[in-house]
Amino acid sequence: MTSFGTVELTVYPYECDAYGHLNQAALLTLLERARWDALARGPGMDLFDRNGVWPAVRKATIEYRAPAFARDLLRVETTVAGRGTTSMTLRHVVRRVSDDATVAEADTVFLSTARLGRATPIPPAIARLLGPRTPVGGSHQPIRVPAGDVELAVDVRGEGVPVLFVHGFPFDRTVWRHQLAALSRVRRIAPDLRGVGGSGAPPGADGYSLTRYADDLVAVLDALGVRQAVVCGLSMGGYVIFDLLRRHPARVKALILADTKPQADSVEAKRGRDELTQVAQREGQDAVIERLLPRLLAPDTLTNQPEVAGQVREMAGRWSVPGLVGALRMLRDRPDSTETLRGVRVPTLVLVGSEDEIASPDTARAMARLIPDAQYHVVPAAGHIAPLEQPLATSRLLADFLRGLP
Ligand code: MLT
Repeated sequence: MTSFGTVELTVYPYECDAYGHLNQAALLTLLERARWDALARGPGMDLFDRNGVWPAVRKATIEYRAPAFARDLLRVETTVAGRGTTSMTLRHVVRRVSDDATVAEADTVFLSTARLGRATPIPPAIARLLGPRTPVGGSHQPIRVPAGDVELAVDVRGEGVPVLFVHGFPFDRTVWRHQLAALSRVRRIAPDLRGVGGSGAPPGADGYSLTRYADDLVAVLDALGVRQAVVCGLSMGGYVIFDLLRRHPARVKALILADTKPQADSVEAKRGRDELTQVAQREGQDAVIERLLPRLLAPDTLTNQPEVAGQVREMAGRWSVPGLVGALRMLRDRPDSTETLRGVRVPTLVLVGSEDEIASPDTARAMARLIPDAQYHVVPAAGHIAPLEQPLATSRLLADFLRGLP
């Protein structure tokens, strides 16, 4: 991401509410001041005037993380999180200088407008400052990584501690879209598993196994020169990580287990996998996801965020049929991982949606208890896909955990 500059600003008493906290309107003003200050110190405050355009704010989302008080000195870091032809997204991270506490994180989307308010392409002189064009909203071009008999599509962003995000079934790397955008202080690495999305899909059943999925993760780390990573798995992603822990424990610096469980499938669950395999072979991806969807999302998500169901359908649509069949066989045959988890000696965060029907909060709590000192958190109003259903709460848990790592 292109940096827009870092600015330090003091909170004035008149910017605070009756309890002495920096108020919301003042925070917005402060962000605006930070942007103008960054321009003043760089290309000049008249940058837009000079180029005959005006950046009109179209949308601002702010997550308040901690109160700030009068006389606090705040550091505002601003980066270009996305740039289109006529719009750009700036990401602000506001920290208190005295203790480095994050006060707020904000994304602001601007439309480049001409004098009469019509959208107009960002002029070349400004575009050069903003850096290369990336889709606004942050979806990134994956790199290609060879892994055994396939090539994997891997989204790699940022610098810092490497965090490897492993998606569940039948999702793809975009299930982490919000965390990949938000966790700007770490190196985010998110592959599509084999058989899914931009990754290669071996045609036969022997192209898929727990071992192969886990070895693919090692190939990704090797290709990026990463010796050890924080590994973060959602559901089936967790099962793959359990295998990584058994065979490649030295590659795991810390663990994040989301909406997952250590138990193997029951006899009944195995039967369900076989039925779903037949559905996949006979009717394809759409039929598979329609069967699964009612159990994946919390009632609250279905009512208040109907677009999330659409996103889940899109991810399922990016699976190949061999990929679905291979994953279902692996899910059916995977071993119990309880003993593996008992042996974990790295910092661990377990999180689960309050309404998760597939890996329930009780199951997740019991799993956390297997691991010495594991943190356990329930994400309210989320089902089986907490990172997508409650992105802010999930990202915050991840950020807090990552910040606390030695
Ligand atoms: C997943 O989200 O990966 C699946 O729900 C895992 C499972 O069915 O066990």
